[in-house]
Amino acid sequence: MISAVGNILVLLLFHLGPNADLPNLGVLLFYGFINGALIAPVVTIAGFFFVGLLGVITVVQLQDLSRLDHPLLKELLRKAPGTYHHSIMVANLAEQAAERVDANSTLVRVGAFYHDIGKMNRPSFFTENQEGASTPHETLDPYSSARIILAHVPEGVDLARKYRIPNRIQDFIAEHHGDRIVKMFYEKARAAAGAAADEVDLDLFRYKGRRPRSRETGIVLLADTVEAASSAVRPSTAEEIEKLVNSLVDDHLKEGQLDDSELTMGDLKQIRASFIETLKGRFHVRVRYPGNEELVGREESGVGGGSLADHSFSFLETSSLTTLAPDGKNPPQCASAHSMGPRRGAPSEVDPRCSPPRLN
Ligand SMILES: [Fe+2]
Ligand SMILES: [Fe+2]
Repeated sequence: MISAVGNILVLLLFHLGPNADLPNLGVLLFYGFINGALIAPVVTIAGFFFVGLLGVITVVQLQDLSRLDHPLLKELLRKAPGTYHHSIMVANLAEQAAERVDANSTLVRVGAFYHDIGKMNRPSFFTENQEGASTPHETLDPYSSARIILAHVPEGVDLARKYRIPNRIQDFIAEHHGDRIVKMFYEKARAAAGAAADEVDLDLFRYKGRRPRSRETGIVLLADTVEAASSAVRPSTAEEIEKLVNSLVDDHLKEGQLDDSELTMGDLKQIRASFIETLKGRFHVRVRYPGNEELVGREESGVGGGSLADHSFSFLETSSLTTLAPDGKNPPQCASAHSMGPRRGAPSEVDPRCSPPRLN
């Protein structure tokens, strides 16, 4: 209506005068009014139609989806609070990295919010939602466990469709694991098969999603893995963080998970640096100032809350997500470490064979 009034005012300004052709002006005013009144709804409807048709996402849609009181995110918080928290952390990591490489950081943030919504169907099967030492996987065979873990990707896409989440966000759900293997349960199945280990079908443990096809989904795939592993290992020095991030990114590169993402080696260098910087802030990596050696020494020996010594096991064990002892069974003290990460102040309780798996 504002544009209709605007049209009329402009026509009057240019056509009203002593020699005005009033009948012609009346016709112009009529068309000006109709034009102004219809233009907004026509553009809105056409925009809605073409946005859906072309699979693009608008700024308004992104703003709407980024609200943490979106019904789907509220449901995620209610059913799977651990996954909700993990998704927020992935979003923070990924958004910072996206800004560094001039990717669409808002899209990355929103995509990360929704990437694991499929977990809300069976939240207790995912480490971040488990409390205490027990996990429902203890009572399942590795094939059933893998089926449940793998299902969170297609089930997430189904949920997103049900809630009319745009295709561009569904891509993050479908692509955030690429076509990786759930190694932990694959190894468990091989161990259980004994002499027939080589007959275990690898594809039964492989995600059926796509490898990332955009820079944005590639960044979220990396941030997802880095967040899950760092939450499990809780690195406490800059060196540990750097090793962890570099190892995880290298793993994905070697597997070719990023081949279709259009991320360049230059981008990956920036993304690694961003992850390392963000994690240093998250885990409060401390600088050893001259004069505080005594304090640091006390902490390392476990006095006063413990810190560095808590994390003496190798991060590489976690990055591989291979947690089985040689006999195919979890080491006795792994359960608590798996669900909570190594407890601060209790370094001796962490079995070095334990590598907390995070089924991110
Ligand atoms: Fe995740
Ligand atoms: Fe996931």
